[in-house]
Order: sequence, then C-alpha cells, then structure tokens
Amino acid sequence: MTAINSVTDLSREGDVAVITINNPPVNALGQAVRDGLIAALDKAAQDDGAKAILLICAGRTFIAGADISEFGKKLSGAGFMETQDKFDAMKKPVVAAIHGTALGGGLEVAMCCHYRVAVASAKFGQPEVNLGLIPGAGGTQRLPRLTGVPKALEMVATGKPIGAPDALANGLIDEIVPGDLKEGALAFIQKLLSDGKGARRTRDLQEKVTGDFAPIFTFAKSQNMRGFEAPLDAINAVEMATKLPFDEGITFEQKTFLARMMSAQSGALRYLFFAERKVSKIPDVSDDTATLPIKKVGVIGAGTMGGGIAMNFANAGIPVTIVEMKQNALDRGLGVVKKNYDGSAAKGRFTAEEVDRRMSFLTGSLTFEDLSDCDLIIEAVFERMDVKKDVFAKLDKVAKKDAILASNTSFLNIDEIATATSRPDHVLGLHFFSPANVMKLLEIVRGEKTAKEVVATAMKLAKTISKVGVLVGVAHGFVGNRMLEARANEADKMLMEGAMPWDIDQVLLDFGYPMGGYAMWDLAGLDLGWAKEESHSDTLRDLENEAGRKGQKTGAGYYDYDEKRKATPSPVTEKMLKDLWAKKGVSPRQIPAQEIIERQIYPMINEGAKILEEGKASRASDIDIVWLYGYGFPAWRGGPMYYADAIGLDTVLAGVKKYGLKPSALLEKLVSEKKKFSDL
Ligand code: 3HC
Ligand code: NAI
Repeated sequence: MTAINSVTDLSREGDVAVITINNPPVNALGQAVRDGLIAALDKAAQDDGAKAILLICAGRTFIAGADISEFGKKLSGAGFMETQDKFDAMKKPVVAAIHGTALGGGLEVAMCCHYRVAVASAKFGQPEVNLGLIPGAGGTQRLPRLTGVPKALEMVATGKPIGAPDALANGLIDEIVPGDLKEGALAFIQKLLSDGKGARRTRDLQEKVTGDFAPIFTFAKSQNMRGFEAPLDAINAVEMATKLPFDEGITFEQKTFLARMMSAQSGALRYLFFAERKVSKIPDVSDDTATLPIKKVGVIGAGTMGGGIAMNFANAGIPVTIVEMKQNALDRGLGVVKKNYDGSAAKGRFTAEEVDRRMSFLTGSLTFEDLSDCDLIIEAVFERMDVKKDVFAKLDKVAKKDAILASNTSFLNIDEIATATSRPDHVLGLHFFSPANVMKLLEIVRGEKTAKEVVATAMKLAKTISKVGVLVGVAHGFVGNRMLEARANEADKMLMEGAMPWDIDQVLLDFGYPMGGYAMWDLAGLDLGWAKEESHSDTLRDLENEAGRKGQKTGAGYYDYDEKRKATPSPVTEKMLKDLWAKKGVSPRQIPAQEIIERQIYPMINEGAKILEEGKASRASDIDIVWLYGYGFPAWRGGPMYYADAIGLDTVLAGVKKYGLKPSALLEKLVSEKKKFSDL
C-alpha cells in the first residue's frame, strides 16, 4: 500500500489498482481528496500490471459531497474540473464501489467512474439545492446520461436521495453487491475484464439525452418554488444536457454553480446546514453525559397530539402504552392512528403488514398503573395547569423510580408542573408540533431542576425518532410559540386598522412561508385556548368562534372551505370585520405589503432577541432551526435571526420602535456595538 497523501492510498489487488479515500468523518471531497485522486489515477495509469482501477472509501461512507467548509474560500490545487477531466482521460476501466451515501460531489465522482457497484443500503443523491446550489462537478450533465431526464430532474430539483434498488433500476449503478463490498467490486471487475469491457465514459452516453423533452421541462419549471431559486437553475442545467454538446453543458453548469455559490440564498442555506449540526451541542452538557435507556414509553391522552406522538415511537420500534380517560376516546385515538398508517400504506410508503407491525407496538389502557414499567411518560392532556398537575402527581406515584416525566404543553410553566412530583430533576417538556408524526421539530424544555442526563437522554431520543431536538428554556410558549404569538398579536392589530386576514396571509406566502398565519389558525382550530365564558365579542376571533366557525374542522373559520378543504376568503368574515370596524370607529386603511411584512417579521425578531437575552435558547441559530422545522420559515432566508443580521439590526430596531413595540435590551445593545446575532 502506498500513501499518495494524507487521505489517499494506492494498492494492488492482483491486476487491479485500488484507490482508497480515507478522510473522516464523511470523506468530503476537499482539496486533499481531489489532489490525492488525481495523483493516484496518474500512478495507476502508469502501472503496467494494473488492468483496471477500483475507487473505494474507508469509514462510514463513500464521498458524501464537496467539503462545504471550503466554500467561499480561495483554493490552491486541483478543482472539480481537473478532477473530472482526469477520470475522463483514463483508458483503463475505473469502477466506484459505494457504501453509505454518495452525495453531491461524491455522486459526481462516482459518475466520472466508468462503472458503479454498491451495497444494497447505499444512498445516492444530488442534494445541492438544499444548500442553494446546483451540482457543480458535472452532475447535471452526467446524471441524465445515466438515469434519463425524468429521474435526473427529480433528483437535482428536490435534492432527495434514492436507494440502491432505485439507482440500479434507473441505470445509475451497474450492480448491487451482496456481502463484502470490496470483494464484490473486485469480482465485478474480473467479469468486466473477461467480457472484454473497457473504459465507458459517462460523457459519451447520448442515448438517454436525445429526444424531445420539452413537455417534461415545461412541467418541471411550472412548479411553484415560492421564491427558492436553486431548483429552477438545476432544471435549466439538466435541460442543457439535452440541448448542448457535453463540454458546453459543463461550461453552463460551472457558470450557474459559481453564480449560485455567491448568492444570498446559498449563504443562508449553508448557514442552516451548520446550524442544524450545532443545535445538538449543549454548552454545559458534554457529549459523553450518560443517558437513560428508553425502551418503553407511555403517552397520556389520545387526542390530536397524543396519537401522533405515539406513532413516532411505534415507527422506531419502541412499544408505547397510551392511556385515556374513557374507552371511546381511546378507540377514537387509536382509530385515527390506524387510519394514518393505512393512508401511508395506500400511498405505497409501506406494506399492509408494516401497518400491523407498527400498530402492534401500541397498547391502549384506561389506567395509569399500566405505565409502571415505562422509562418515559409523555403527557398530552388538556392545556390546563390544574389538569396537568393532577396528572403529574398521579404519575409520580405509579412511574418507576428513574422514569422521565414529560409534558407536551404548548405554553405552560414546566417548573410549576414539576412541583406536583417528587422528582423535578426527571421532569421536562417535550413539545411536539402538530401533526406530531410529521413535523420534524421537537422543543426540549429544560426546567430549572431538570438533570443533565435527562436533557442528554431527550436530545438523543429526538434523533432516535427522527426529530430535530432543540433545547429551550421555560417561558410562556418557549421559543416557537412565544415568537408566533408576537407575530399574531401584530397581525390582529392590523386587522383592526383595515387589513383582511387573507391580505396578511398573502404577504407571508409571498415571503416564502408555506401557509399564512390565519390559515394556520384555521388548521389548528380557532377554539384552541378560547373559552366561551371569556368571550366579549370584541375580536374577529371571538366573533368567528361565537358563530361556530372554528376553522377547517367546521368547514369555516377566517376562510371558507370546500369539501376538498380548499380555502377561499370568506364574505362572512369580511362582514364581521367591517361591522367590528364600524362598532369601534375604525377608519380602515389599505396597509402596504411592505408594512405588513415588517410588522410580521420585526416583532418575531425582537421576541427572539428577548429569548436570547433571558438565556432561553443557547444560540441565535437554534431559534432559526425552531422556525425552519416548526413553522416552515423559508429556508433560503436562513431563519428570522439570520434574516435580521442580513437586513441589519439597526433597521430591525428602527422598525420595532416605529411600530410601537418595546425593544429588547439585547437588540439595542447589539446595535449600539454594531454587532450581529451571529457575533454572540
Ligand atoms: N462538508 C463538510 N463537512 C461535512 C459534510 C460536507 N459535505 N458533510 C458532513 N460534514 C460534517 C458535519 O458538519 C459533521 O461535522 P461535526 O461532527 O463536526 O458536527 C460531520 O461531518 C458528520 O455529519 P452529520 O452529523 O451530518 O452525520 P450523519 O451521519 O448524520 O450524516 C451525511 C451524514 C448524510 C453525509 C450528512 O452529513 C449530509 O447530508 N452531508 C451533506 C451532504 C451534502 O450536502 N453534499 C453536497 C455538498 S455540495 C456539493 O457536493 C457540490 C458539488 O456538486 C460540487
Ligand atoms: P386534545 O383535546 O385533542 O386531546 C387531549 C386528550 O387528553 C383527550 O382525548 C382527553 O380525553 C385526554 N385526557 C384529558 N385528561 C386526561 C387524563 N387525566 N387522563 C387521560 N387522558 C386525558 O388536545 P391536544 O390538541 O392533543 O393537546 C394536548 C396537549 O398538547 C395540550 O397541552 C396542548 O397545548 C399541546 N399541544 C397541542 C398542539 C396542537 O396543535 N393541538 C401542538 C403542540 C402541543
């Protein structure tokens, strides 16, 4: 074995030269890897005893992409172009052996090889759009030549990876290797050689990119991308593979890739990539903190949230006992879960047997005693402090000594709930978002007394159930709902100045949110937290509720809904609001879109600053992750705190004052010191 450089080795196995990349943790295609690949290919080309070349990676994965931390920095040594050219110049067949994830530049290197074999668990993707980029090492030109246009378009425009069977069926790989990857790849090479097959450059494969693809591209480009630029650029680049000779297609790709790299959207998305990895690091809870085993879970309440919460654990193969007050509530709750699973099976996500398997992890019960062997119990009952305390006091008696007791409360004080128990160190909030089986965010609420090992256990658990766990402190609404409330209050004020709910929602949609605030209320239910006895017919929400218009579930709320749940602005709402203006002597004015967006974003940023000031979030980027995964903040804007830094905190502060809000002390301090949230 010869070391080519610190991350590349070259060896000989019989008549095959084997290049091994070893660049932990994910074999990113950094400068050293590119230089090493070129030098190793040169050496292998000159080795008369080697008839073919195998490229394989050490560690957990094949090359998982370009090295993102290199982006934006000046490079010395080989670039992506030279690396591609070197592969294309090889006369001996080059075979890539793939395990783990061949992503981005990694898949592009694999496609520069002449053949590809992989283990069955391998994944393949061009996730560059997730970073606001397009593939920049030939992916937009080589992928369609291997898979054909529709599959290539799907992969580059959505960024979603595909599995090995899909890759094989679409011509992206040549064989799935059972057993040991290297042995299988060497056997594949011997077969190639004995069949007399040589180098097969992907660039020369024209068949799948020849023809009339106009309708496919027209359709792809017509998808609503809500301001997100990269997918359209990626589609255009793939189109060039069908219109231009290979080298010109590559030049087009390069130009687009470099422009995207300089774009504000890519800057924001690259920031989020690292923000998501930072979020699991907690300043005072080290990575080696002991965690408690979670082998069995209890859920109390099988309502909107309880059922969805339980599904997360069943999906991960962890048994769950769900406790309700009455049999009919339990039956209804479990029935909704079964319907959800059946729906997924009908869509082909998994088989009918899998539905039964997942359901088999769920057991219903009407007594708390059945929770005595659970390691974690999550309460999802009505949002009332007296009810929660009563539940926690009872739980404390039946739960085993080390069991963790968690509340899914949206707003209530976890420290107060913990006082109902004899184990406040084992109490915390696990705030799931609706629908709980779908939304990726999990706010992990650390109480004053929550033990570090309980925090560490919850962070680990989030990963087990495929959630993004964000640690937050105790405060009304924690991070997400607290900021949402600041936004909603300002929206309600605008209603009383002349805006209709859909005027405000439209501005949020134009900003890039998937849904406006009032449409979101209609989805959640207008009666959430509303009580008839306390209603004064004083707000639009009061009037809607009093009229039985509680949102989608009643077919009407701020909007009217048809049987397909399609929303239209409601004349009933319009009349209610106009009557309210008349009653309160409001002279309505048309509020400009710019004012609406400022009044929907600045209050959130100001509240986010207060959250940081109070130490209720570890870092500004954690807040951005909450908004990304909990509320669909447009990722390409980076999150509210990143957005604030981008437009300037002085602008935000001036806006906060202009609209009569009390500025956060931290915001004022940062402006006076000419600093940003990212400097904290
Ligand atoms: N560049 C630099 N660092 C990377 C990286 C990359 N492409 N991918 C992962 N890392 C780092 C992470 O920051 C993390 O570092 P840390 O331990 O210091 O926090 C470490 O590798 C492990 O990553 P994860 O925690 O994400 O590990 P997982 O096992 O959960 O996931 C993965 C592994 C699926 C490879 C995931 O990291 C991933 O999706 N990476 C990004 C892949 C990607 O987007 N590639 C395309 C890059 S753009 C490109 O290739 C342009 C080209 O077309 C020219
Ligand atoms: P829900 O009203 O749909 O369900 C609550 C269920 O708890 C009911 O089925 C009820 O029978 C049961 N229950 C009440 N007391 C009980 C007891 N003592 N023992 C056993 N079961 C009992 O309410 P939902 O929407 O599921 O909310 C539950 C909690 O989750 C609340 O704290 C809420 O604030 C929170 N939450 C709700 C979200 C939402 O969008 N609905 C989002 C995030 C959190």
